[in-house]
Amino acid sequence: MSRIAYVGGQYVPHRTAAVHIEDRGYQFADGVYEVLAVCGGRLVDEERHLARLGRSLGELRIAPPLADAALRLVLREIVRRNRVGDGLVYIQVTRGTAPREHAFPARAKAVLVVTARRRRPVDPGLAENGVAVITIPDLRWQRCDIKAVALTANVLGKQAAREAGAYEAWLVDRDGWVTEGTSTNAWIVTAEGAVVTHPADRAILNGVTRLAVLDILRGDGQIAIERPFTVAEAKQAREAFLTSTTNELLPVVRIDGDSIGNGAPGLLTRRLRELYRAHVARAAAAQ
Ligand code: PDD
Repeated sequence: MSRIAYVGGQYVPHRTAAVHIEDRGYQFADGVYEVLAVCGGRLVDEERHLARLGRSLGELRIAPPLADAALRLVLREIVRRNRVGDGLVYIQVTRGTAPREHAFPARAKAVLVVTARRRRPVDPGLAENGVAVITIPDLRWQRCDIKAVALTANVLGKQAAREAGAYEAWLVDRDGWVTEGTSTNAWIVTAEGAVVTHPADRAILNGVTRLAVLDILRGDGQIAIERPFTVAEAKQAREAFLTSTTNELLPVVRIDGDSIGNGAPGLLTRRLRELYRAHVARAAAAQ
């Protein structure tokens, strides 16, 4: 089956889909994106993803290329045309195509790209055994709350993790606080059983998975605290885990080579993973 992409108002073969070389996304990384999960052909947590897309666009003063209802139709159509049962939808909006000049162009029209692809479920081995993370300096800019396509520091960080034999790199700011991972949010469970993650300020992306897990924790009577933690505290934690749309919720069992807890996925982490997966199935069914 040949894949179809939506580019600047048209459905085109994915193989030949292209934007202009003077697209500002290509030249300046002047754009934003979203990644949504598709479960049983339905979008998961669409409201929160579209709310965050609207916020990212607003912060960069890019006019939405499509009205909300029209965008929702495109998302459904791209899932349908690509016959995605379980997979991912990628949305990207750039400020448009214009002669290269840093300041906003007078007349450029935002360019919307939407793609979809099937994927296998998250590798069960990762959930069963847990993953290792390394810690590295957070080299990113000061508006990480915007889901911008400028991901150079994240790319370098993920590559550093791969080369160290780890799954993810946790980013540490100048004051020693863990902000988040290169493409995931970071969590620990303290000795007292409190679940801790960085507050949703400008230092992190407020993950849609993060928000769902916070809802789950509060609904489950657990203690959820939004505050920063250090690498030292994380290494002493009872449990640790990471979250994102693409990874769902995965146990972290090693940080910089040091085992967390007894080196196996924690009980609360396992429970939260099951509750999160139930949330995905429910959210998709409610579409
Ligand atoms: N990554 N933090 C960063 C820096 C991210 O890039 C992401 C998402 C998250 C988790 O957000 P969410 O739960 O909404 O997926 C946190 C996407 C999926 C990506 O780059 O592919």
